Amino acid sequence: MITVSEIERRYKLSSDEFTKNYVDQGKPVIISGVIPSWNGFSQWSLKYFKQLSPSLNIYAKKFSDKGIEICSLTMKNYIGLIESYEADYLNSPSPPYCHDLPLFSLIPSLIEDAQPFPLDYLPEWYWYKWWRYCQFFLGCSNSITPLHFDCLLTNNIFFQIVGRQTIYHTTT
Ligand SMILES: [Fe+2]
Repeated sequence: MITVSEIERRYKLSSDEFTKNYVDQGKPVIISGVIPSWNGFSQWSLKYFKQLSPSLNIYAKKFSDKGIEICSLTMKNYIGLIESYEADYLNSPSPPYCHDLPLFSLIPSLIEDAQPFPLDYLPEWYWYKWWRYCQFFLGCSNSITPLHFDCLLTNNIFFQIVGRQTIYHTTT
């Protein structure tokens, strides 16, 4: 098992080195210095999304002993739930977790915010309309995605834009 302290952290890793030393080796790496250079990085926040598209219908998942419940609500209402929880988490219900939202397709103006996007980390067949393949997650503190299996069998580039995340994974 690999722990976080054993995963290398590389600043603005070149795509050649990324492919040769990490992708081809099946080795995880944390790359820093990419997202802060995005045009819109500094403005991405709950307030920004709420103002940008308040009536956008989104979906979020609630996990419980009974299984997965899908909730449908507007961006404004969802962010309101997160803000209430963050302000007083002891007395607020935990909001559902917004998973796998095709955000760039829903709000195309955000594509420009994510420029320069590091396309050279991806195989060329992803380059054309790359944003179609991005899945956006938005949630409150302590949100959890249960252990699962990504059946597409592809590698995964995870962009942490705001906040922090602990990822547990297993290898076979
Ligand atoms: Fe996954």
